Amino acid sequence: MQIIETKKELKDTLSVNLLSSKTLGLIPTMGALHKGHISLIERANKENDTVVVSIFVNPTQFNNHEDLEKYPKTLKNDIELIKTVSDQIIVYSPSIKEIYDDNITAENYNFDGLESVMEGEFRDGHFNGVGTIVEELLTSVNPDKAYFGEKDFQQFQIINKLVELKKIPVEVIGCPIVREENGLAMSSRNERLSTSTRKEAALIYKILQEVKIKFGTKSALEITEWVKSEFLKHEKFKLEYFQIAETTTLQPVKIKSKNKKYRAFVAVFVDDIRLIDNIAL
Ligand code: PAF
Repeated sequence: MQIIETKKELKDTLSVNLLSSKTLGLIPTMGALHKGHISLIERANKENDTVVVSIFVNPTQFNNHEDLEKYPKTLKNDIELIKTVSDQIIVYSPSIKEIYDDNITAENYNFDGLESVMEGEFRDGHFNGVGTIVEELLTSVNPDKAYFGEKDFQQFQIINKLVELKKIPVEVIGCPIVREENGLAMSSRNERLSTSTRKEAALIYKILQEVKIKFGTKSALEITEWVKSEFLKHEKFKLEYFQIAETTTLQPVKIKSKNKKYRAFVAVFVDDIRLIDNIAL
């Protein structure tokens, strides 16, 4: 299995690929891989001749220093997991210096308002950091297809916008959320929950499923009030936001329209661990 740490080696390796006109798939990750990532890697492996998995904990997308410090770094284990899909996959794991040199700052983007709602409202500068690293990865790997999980649906839409704005020739593919047996969306942060809290965190998806049912007959306002009251019943849960939004603009729904598609989004602290999830309505 090839593990690449520098831009130069990446370029040299991929130029061979380019010459033989093989298709290339990229899965950008921050490591701490779980079944959700593996589903993206498996799909990319089926759809492309060559697959690159990048593993890079991107400092500019963390607005909270403690969150960055605590982010799990499990490179050895990640490589073993990737090998279970194929040992032909290329792992790109650069250092912070390799990506940012001595200037660890994010570019300032205008994503047409996608960046200012929900995660953008509560995680200042987060999407500038995501945009910076994803633009860097897309332009240095130059894949035909790039794969992102829909658990971070807002991020997925922002990357679609980034690709449109910067005219990057890549197909951005969103892949369905993979869930634990109890419905909790797979996330590297789940590892930080205690066994009992991890069980209780099933509540988040239970509520979202109920939201989907209620959306047939109730207004967004009524549903939002209901969600707030449900989380209040559980001491361990602190709701940060709940939002029903239109799928492409991510603007909050005011009056439901039959021609539009909606999704419900939630961010909630469970024992101080921040979890997000969403559901198509
Ligand atoms: O979703 C993630 O893991 C990260 O935000 C990404 C897309 C790899 C950029 O650092």
